[in-house]
Amino acid sequence: MEYGESKMENIILFGDLGNKELSQQIADSLGVDLFYPDVTVFPDGELRVRVLEDVVGREIIVVKSFSDPVNTNLLEFVFLIDAIKRSGATKITALIPYLAYQRADHVFRTGEAVPLQVVISMIEDAGVEEIIILDPHSIKIPEMFAIPVTPVSAVPLFAQTIRNLSLNLDDVSIVSPDMGGKRRIRQMADLLGITSIAAVYKKRDLETGIVIAQKHEGEIKKICIILDDICSTGNTLIQAAQYLRENGAQHLFVMCTHPVLSSHAPELLESGHFEKVYMTNSIHIPTAKQFPHLDILSVSKILTQPLLTRL
Ligand code: R5P
Repeated sequence: MEYGESKMENIILFGDLGNKELSQQIADSLGVDLFYPDVTVFPDGELRVRVLEDVVGREIIVVKSFSDPVNTNLLEFVFLIDAIKRSGATKITALIPYLAYQRADHVFRTGEAVPLQVVISMIEDAGVEEIIILDPHSIKIPEMFAIPVTPVSAVPLFAQTIRNLSLNLDDVSIVSPDMGGKRRIRQMADLLGITSIAAVYKKRDLETGIVIAQKHEGEIKKICIILDDICSTGNTLIQAAQYLRENGAQHLFVMCTHPVLSSHAPELLESGHFEKVYMTNSIHIPTAKQFPHLDILSVSKILTQPLLTRL
């Protein structure tokens, strides 16, 4: 049965103009019609967002990743929510494959803002009533919202992908490229029945952003699967890879949920000599940013599962 089949005609999906492929997959998975907002950019950069469909009395699902250009996408999203609300929708559920600013969840240095808290307020104030979010950066993020948030994860999809590789799991360590990812590697190891895990201690200079892998805890076997939530510049993955090779790893795989892929990340990852780099389509990866050994996995079914299981 598809989402809301009994009230199918009452549901409209507004897709992400920056990720039409994932939007279509989500609409297909739910069995609902897909529409896009009408977005205009004025000469001074201001946005105008309109819904052209009749949303009166309807339940609306909005898909949006806050990918590059982050701030424009964020504003486009809240304007769309406001437009839908003002046009008479009954309920708005947001599927947010990638939430920007989630690493900025506290004051790192005196005098800084807490951008994530501001972004959450914007989303809630606009009128979203419920959110499904993929692999939030920290376990506490859903609790920072006042509205219900259901976190879903790509880790089971990655675990299945590893199973399909038919590796000798006795030779495999699941590795986090930093200490913040320990919960994630334990989850993956449990799913695969692997006991060997490791976390690399990474130091990032807050001024320059330069990352250095300094030491590790846990065990490094000859095949390492590096698991991370976000790849932005790619430096964290490359530093971890270099460190793992210096400490006995011979074959490296990468599994990362959110392919932010800023600056020279694609070139860096290409130079990393990974057997494979698995990333999801939580953010659209344009052809120009794709590189050899990259495999893109779809998260459409993971995102729709909480809606489908409600029936
Ligand atoms: C950090 O805590 C995250 O889990 C990622 O490791 C980080 O955001 C990756 O950033 P970059 O690719 O710029 O090193």
